[in-house]
Amino acid sequence: MARRTLVVGNWKMNGLIETARELVDGILTGLSTRAGGAIAGEVVLCPPATALHAVNQRLEGSPVQLGGQDLSEHESGAHTGEICGAMLRNVGCRYVIVGHSERRAAWGENDERVARKMAAAFRDGLQPIVCVGETLAERDRGAALEVVGAQLEALYPWLPAQSIHRQALVVAYEPVWAIGTGRHAESGQIQEVHAFIRQSLSARLGEDGRMIRIVYGGSVKPSNAEAIFALEDVDGGLIGGAALDSADFLAIIDAVSEKF
Ligand code: 13P
Repeated sequence: MARRTLVVGNWKMNGLIETARELVDGILTGLSTRAGGAIAGEVVLCPPATALHAVNQRLEGSPVQLGGQDLSEHESGAHTGEICGAMLRNVGCRYVIVGHSERRAAWGENDERVARKMAAAFRDGLQPIVCVGETLAERDRGAALEVVGAQLEALYPWLPAQSIHRQALVVAYEPVWAIGTGRHAESGQIQEVHAFIRQSLSARLGEDGRMIRIVYGGSVKPSNAEAIFALEDVDGGLIGGAALDSADFLAIIDAVSEKF
C-alpha cells in the first residue's frame, strides 16, 4: 500500500482568533475550487492553542485535519500552563507536533522527553509528528546522520506495539539551520537524510517502518516545494512561514499533489 502524502501547516505563535479564521477560510475556499474539493493527500493545520477551537469549528465537514503544536507528557494534574493529549483531542485535534527544534532549544526538550511526549500522544489517540534534525554546527562537523539516528533511536523503546499505531507515526526531518532562514536544504542533502530515516525505520520496525510517513520542513515555499516533494523518500512537508499565507500554502498543497 502506498503512503498518503501529508502537508502540515505549523502556524507557530502567530494569529489571533480573527486572523486564524481568515486564514483557514482562505485555505478552505481555495481547496473547494480544486477538483471538487478533493485533495490528493492529507492536509493538517496546527494553529496556536488559543485558536484551536475556532479553527476546528471552521474545519468541520472539510477534509482538512487539526493538530496541536505540542503536548504535555503527563496525562493530567498539577502542570500549570501545560496542555495534555486528551485536551487536544477534546478540541478536535487528530495530530500533534512533538519535539520541534524550537522547543528542544528553548525549553530543554531532550530526546527522552520527546519520546515520552510521543508515547503520550499515542496514549491519547493522537498521531504524533515527531521532529528530528541537526544544527548547523552538527552538519558542519559531519554529524547530521549521527544526530538524526540518535534522535530516532530514542523513540523506538517508546513506540506502541500495535502496527496500527506504529504506522500512524509521522517523522519530520527539519534541519535546524533551514528553519525560518529562507535557506532550504539541497535536494541531495534532503534525500540523503530521508533515505537514512527510512532505512532506520524499516530496519527497526519492518513493514510498519515502511508505512511511516517522512515529511521535510525548513523554508519550504511554492518555488521549491515541487522539487522537494519529488524526492523519492519525501512524503510531504511541515510548513512554517509559508503556511501563514493561504495562496502560498495552497500552492504547496498543489505541489505535493503533483507526486501522483
Ligand atoms: P519555515 O517553513 O518557516 O522554515 O519553518 C519550518 C518549521 O519549523 C515548521 O515546523
